[in-house]
Amino acid sequence: MTAAKIIDGKAKAAELTAVITAKTKKLIAEHGVTPGLSVVLVGEDPASQVYVRNKKRTAEACGFNSVQHTLPADTSEADVLKLIDTLNSDPSVHGILVQLPLPDHMDEQKVTQAILPSKDVDGFHDINVGRLSAGHIDKAFVPCTPAGCMLMIEDQLGKDLSGLNAVVIGRSNIVGKPMASLLLAANATVTIAHSRTKDLPAVARGADILVAAVGRARMVKGDWVKPGAIVIDVGINRIEVEIDGEKKSKLTGDVDFAAASEHAAAITPVPGGVGPMTIVMLMANTLASAQRRAASNG
Ligand code: GUN
Repeated sequence: MTAAKIIDGKAKAAELTAVITAKTKKLIAEHGVTPGLSVVLVGEDPASQVYVRNKKRTAEACGFNSVQHTLPADTSEADVLKLIDTLNSDPSVHGILVQLPLPDHMDEQKVTQAILPSKDVDGFHDINVGRLSAGHIDKAFVPCTPAGCMLMIEDQLGKDLSGLNAVVIGRSNIVGKPMASLLLAANATVTIAHSRTKDLPAVARGADILVAAVGRARMVKGDWVKPGAIVIDVGINRIEVEIDGEKKSKLTGDVDFAAASEHAAAITPVPGGVGPMTIVMLMANTLASAQRRAASNG
């Protein structure tokens, strides 16, 4: 196998951002509705601060109203629920996102379920989870990471994945499970593998589409990849590497990229693959929410 095609998530995200920006202009001109995204950040987790900053920047680039609510780590759960209530009833807010993880004294499930399903642009509310798993994708907000992965898979293989084996490594509610639902809805034959799976390398080798979402640096080895497979690497792991005798921090995925590239037909890099697509899908969900609002206003 020659080296794989590298799927450029950054370039695709830039194309989609341009489309969303144009549609936003149209929505404002025709209906006077500006998409509004409210992002709630509790505490000072450094990774969360970076993610939230990127989301705000992209929202503004799309022409949205983006409001960030930054609350101290010791904020009570009741106060967060009160803020969500206020945002739920604010007609200028079309999307609400509470950045996870929340501080330990809060019940994440309780907080995410307090967001109105019609404003749940993360797709974490049980109503949206249910719609997706029932295959009612047009009515659901689909979680942003798997939605972005799916667009990249469609670019390589088309919308109908009939006859193809997909293996998702990781069973999280944010990525693994919704990813499996999307692949199933596209007619793939889907396996969800995880830390308790017997002979994971052999299971992975059966995949025409391999999605790695485990959060362990370079866990997926080159010889786990079937020749000609499409490999989507969701992992964002920070590792220490030595460059010219100096220790540096570097981002790496869940897949051993160099080795997997020898086998795969196409593969996403880290960074520059799934990450940029995730953010743009949040914008797509927020725009869709605002468009629905505009349509319901007549
Ligand atoms: N933390 C890590 N990923 C996500 C995400 O997709 N949404 C939210 N709200 N928090 C996250």
